[in-house]
Amino acid sequence: MPCALKILATARALPPRVVTNAELETLVDTTDQWIAERTGIRERRIAAPEVATSDLAAEALLKACDAAGIEPAALDAIIVGTSTPDTLFPSTACWLQHKLGLRGPAAFDVSAGCSGFLYGLEIAGGLMHGGAKHIAIIGAEVMSRVVNWQDRGTCVLFGDGAGAAILGPGDGRSGVLGSAWGADGNLAKVLCQPAGGTRLPASIETVAAMAHTVHMEGNTVFKHAVTAMSEAAVQAMARAGIRPDQVDLLIPHQANTRIMEAARARTGVPADRLFSIVERHGNMSAATIPVALDEAREQGRIKDGDIIVMTAFGTGFTWAASVLRW
Ligand code: ACO
Repeated sequence: MPCALKILATARALPPRVVTNAELETLVDTTDQWIAERTGIRERRIAAPEVATSDLAAEALLKACDAAGIEPAALDAIIVGTSTPDTLFPSTACWLQHKLGLRGPAAFDVSAGCSGFLYGLEIAGGLMHGGAKHIAIIGAEVMSRVVNWQDRGTCVLFGDGAGAAILGPGDGRSGVLGSAWGADGNLAKVLCQPAGGTRLPASIETVAAMAHTVHMEGNTVFKHAVTAMSEAAVQAMARAGIRPDQVDLLIPHQANTRIMEAARARTGVPADRLFSIVERHGNMSAATIPVALDEAREQGRIKDGDIIVMTAFGTGFTWAASVLRW
């Protein structure tokens, strides 16, 4: 099967500050044991106050371009998947250009929550068909800036970080073999940041009500995440002509160990193929998949010719999956 695009290089940027579950015990009524048992998370990185999403995105982009041997200015497009943009407008992708003094490549954000990186991959496939040669996709988040640090039900879940991938045309052998994506906006209220947009503009009242932070029905998210991530992966594998036992590595969105394991079981992919970084990073939303991909490569878990399945689920709800031959 011809592949429209392949990943030439990956990179990540993570804030140096590690926040352990023990540190969170001093902030809210929680325990290391509760967080570890319910989520698998043990620690996460948290950005310094002066660091915005585009700062992490720019660092990841520069490292990825360096690894691919491509000048950032030679890119056709820069796509940033994020739910925590620097500003509502312009896009984080444009702030990234501002930081790097970059002019030329098309730059825009994808707002698809934790599915942002795989949505970007899907969009990039279309751009490649239209003649683009090199595209950067970056999943970047500073979730710590939109979390209510008094809400133990959400603040323990998230982390900050960015992961980047440089895409080039498929070479007929390696690249994207199949994919699936979708959304169900009827469930938008289940996981959202209620205030700060046109529906509920920022005001003294919205700030006092903490309405600019993450609001989530955790159990509902959990159930839909398992179903949507597994169904998207199964659909993408069918389109790629890949059986579950042929998958070398499954990289699901890293929200919670129990969600990942339940989704894996439904795909039929063997348990030893599941790749997890959630223990050390928490849920970095759109950044989890590219950071995991980069760490898997660094650890030697991905070899040339391997079949990689990535699957994601996020606010919206949105979902997306992609099957690659490396
Ligand atoms: N520490 C201690 N106790 C807590 C904490 C905490 N940090 N958070 C909640 N609890 C309590 C609750 O108050 C509740 O107490 P109660 O029984 O006295 O009312 C009890 O623990 C059980 O709460 P549940 O919400 O039923 O716990 P559950 O096992 O469902 O786990 C969790 C909650 C971890 C949020 C889970 O639902 C989940 O992971 N959902 C997915 C959410 C998610 O990942 N969202 C991220 C964005 S979307 C995405 O990335 C896919």
